[in-house]
Amino acid sequence: MCGIVGYVGNGRALDVLLSGLKRLEYRGYDSAGYSLQMDDSLVVRKCIGRVKELEEMNPGDAINATTGIAHTRWATHGEPTTVNAHPHSDFSGRISLVHNGIIENYKSLRKKLVAQGISFESETDTEVLAKLVGSEAGKGKNLFDAVKDALVQVRGTYGIAVLSADQPSTLVAARYGSPLVVGIGDGENIVASDVAAIVAHTRNVIYLEEGEIVEITSGGISSNSSDPRMTRDRIQHVDWDLAEIEKDGFSHYMLKEINSQPESLRNAFRGRIDLVNGTSRLGGLGMSESDMRGVKRIVITACGTSWHSGLIGKYVIEKLARIPVDVEYASEFRYRDPVLEDGTVMFVISQSGETADTLAALRLAKKRGIRTLGIVNVVGSTIARETDSGVYIHAGPEIGVASTKAFTGQTMILSLIALAFGRAKGNLTREDGIELCRAIMEIPEKVETILGGCDSIMEIARQFTYASNFLYLGRGVNYPVALEGALKLKEISYIHAEGYPAAEMKHGPIALIDDMMPVTVIAVKDAAYEKVMSNIHEVKARRGRVLAIATEGDNEIRTVADWVLEIPPVTDILVPLLSVIPLQLLSYYVAVSRGCDVDKPRNLAKSVTVE
Ligand code: G6P
Repeated sequence: MCGIVGYVGNGRALDVLLSGLKRLEYRGYDSAGYSLQMDDSLVVRKCIGRVKELEEMNPGDAINATTGIAHTRWATHGEPTTVNAHPHSDFSGRISLVHNGIIENYKSLRKKLVAQGISFESETDTEVLAKLVGSEAGKGKNLFDAVKDALVQVRGTYGIAVLSADQPSTLVAARYGSPLVVGIGDGENIVASDVAAIVAHTRNVIYLEEGEIVEITSGGISSNSSDPRMTRDRIQHVDWDLAEIEKDGFSHYMLKEINSQPESLRNAFRGRIDLVNGTSRLGGLGMSESDMRGVKRIVITACGTSWHSGLIGKYVIEKLARIPVDVEYASEFRYRDPVLEDGTVMFVISQSGETADTLAALRLAKKRGIRTLGIVNVVGSTIARETDSGVYIHAGPEIGVASTKAFTGQTMILSLIALAFGRAKGNLTREDGIELCRAIMEIPEKVETILGGCDSIMEIARQFTYASNFLYLGRGVNYPVALEGALKLKEISYIHAEGYPAAEMKHGPIALIDDMMPVTVIAVKDAAYEKVMSNIHEVKARRGRVLAIATEGDNEIRTVADWVLEIPPVTDILVPLLSVIPLQLLSYYVAVSRGCDVDKPRNLAKSVTVE
């Protein structure tokens, strides 16, 4: 949540800040602002709305400033207003600060500052931090020490960048619980919440550690960490291509990302399939076959869409490896004093690798001595670094707020994990393993086939433009897909949608069904087919309208469903990798036909770094 960019160098700071903010808008987009260092003062501009609004504001002479900080906000404390937008200033107006995170003890700090005669303009927790830094600087400290001494008084999470009119060409940045990365350029350095704001300028980056405070000038960086100088060995190379974060001719990032799934799925299994032994090779897990045999229980923790892929993981791992799996919402797990016995391992699933609740669940498990394994997309992210070991999904940057290719990438990795555990535990024969490997390798082509039929999905979607409720049903491994389909629709089109296990429908949701209620049913030719058909009849008997996701060539379903979208046949446990694709496209086209902002849905953010 919230995007931060800071620049110090010889170029025009404003250009770097604005282009960086645009790349970070997925993190929050209700208001934006910047502060530029000009001669011996700071020029601050803020506005409600998107970065393009900020771009239209006149910076005056500061247009040529070479040092500055900027922010795009996802409101936590105080509505999105210009006054609440960042940067916030100290009492003298000579210090500006941008913040991502939450200062939990802001009320008591504010009271203390008010008692010292300091007044406040905004309702934010961030302004307290700005005033606190100002008050420390007022004791004659330089900016670095003022920030350091202010942060000691703070409880909560923060990624901050701070600028002072009294210290030219210098930024101070700090992180605790919210990500920050510094791009190391040639005579210029950039600090940002995410490398997306940096890659256009440099691919060399340093990820800040928890609790680290740095002073950044155009010539270098110094830190308070145990590794006090920013040595070359901390520099990591980001191998992203700028094209990966462009829309590439698609009207939205989400559509681009849906269409890139054949490729992102190939990347997920590339080099990881062992066709000879009928297993997968996941070196990153750092687990031998005997380690795998020693696992008695698996806990999967995640949030949102990643939690849905975890549910699919439960079905697949239990089926192939016969290991009990619990799937936990990270936000519940972290506060519930969970029972974690010996022999338990935890898989932590996160696209961004920064989700606050998921990170807290991971830390809790580590504290309890549980082995933690990451399934993460963003390389170098906090969860990727803090898990004991893990597997990257290699989906490339996902920018649309509604997750699509990360979901299928996570699901693919979980299938590979199930395969490896199943073979190691001897529950799966070599022949069955080889067959599954072959089926996995055919998935990208089958996804291409489904994407080729997107015109008919668009047609059907148009008919749902004015729907106000939707039900999604599925059984077994397709139940989590029903949840994911419903989540996608509500996230981007604001239509109320619920996902349910198909048979559970009669215990409540059936009361909602009438001819105004579209019901999407995943009814592929698998072991549950006959049962799902009965559920469809139950919907039809109440005049519900059924959209079926069915297996190619199934003529029977056409006699009952109002609309049918076909997917190619595939072995049961891999069906979610295909059945979710028409649901992603459906929600996308419904949202477009309703005129919604698909890539930046209201109130949401891609990376949820507050709890
Ligand atoms: C937010 C995003 C979702 C995502 C969830 C978990 O809610 O909007 O798309 O599934 O966070 O994010 P993570 O990065 O941990 O997978």
